Amino acid sequence: MTEATRDIQPVELLINGIPVRAEPQMTIVEAAWAGGVPRVTGVGCLEGVCGSCRILVRRGKEVNVALGCETFVEPGMEALFLPAPGTPRHQYQLTELADGWDIQARFHEIFPEASRCRHCHGCVKSCPKGISVEEGVKLAAAGHYREAGEAFLECVMCELCDSACPEYIAPAHVGLFCRRITAFFHLRPPNLIHKLEELKQEADKKEQP
Ligand code: SF4
Ligand code: SF4
Ligand code: FES
Repeated sequence: MTEATRDIQPVELLINGIPVRAEPQMTIVEAAWAGGVPRVTGVGCLEGVCGSCRILVRRGKEVNVALGCETFVEPGMEALFLPAPGTPRHQYQLTELADGWDIQARFHEIFPEASRCRHCHGCVKSCPKGISVEEGVKLAAAGHYREAGEAFLECVMCELCDSACPEYIAPAHVGLFCRRITAFFHLRPPNLIHKLEELKQEADKKEQP
C-alpha cells in the first residue's frame, strides 16, 4: 500500500455510540454530520472560539475532554458530545460593586469555594486552550484579579474545567468574573473613547427629526 492510498482510507470510530466511517482530516463535528449522527446541538463557530462543541474522547484506556471542532478523527476513537452547561450558580451584578476595595470581599461571597483549591490539576488537564486555570484561580483567590483575568484571556467558556473541579469552584466563572471586573473598572483607551463618542454623535444626529 502506497502512502497516498493509506491516506485516503476511511477512519472508523464511534461518535455518540454510533459507528462512523469518516475521511481522514475530518474533525469530530464534521465526521458526526457526515456520518449521519443525529443532529448535534449547541455547536457554533467551528473554529474553537465558542466553546460549545464539548466532547469526551476515549482512546483505549485513556479518557480526555476536548473541543469537537478542533479534534481530528482517529481510528478506534470514541467521542461523545457532552451536554451544554447549565445556568451558572454564581450570580452577581457588576454595578453593585462599589469600587476596587469592595471586590475582595464580594469575590469571596460570590465564589466561597475559590480558596479551597486542592491543586489536583484537573482543570488544567481538561482545558482545551492550554490555560493555566489552576494558577488563575489561585491569583483570583489571592486578590490579583487583573492578573487572573489575563490568565483567562483565551478562555472560550466551554466550562470543561468546571466539570473537572472536585471542589465545585467553577474556574471558568472565576476567570470570567476577573475579566469582567478588569474591564469594568479599567479606564478605556482614549482612541476607543473617541470612537464611542463619534458613534454616539452619529446616532444622535440620526434620531434628530
Ligand atoms: S479555562 Fe475552562 S472554560 Fe476556559 S477554555 Fe479552559 S476549560 Fe474551557
Ligand atoms: S480542578 Fe478545582 S481543585 Fe483542582 S486544581 Fe483546578 S481549581 Fe483547584
Ligand atoms: S464549535 Fe465553537 S468551539 Fe467548537
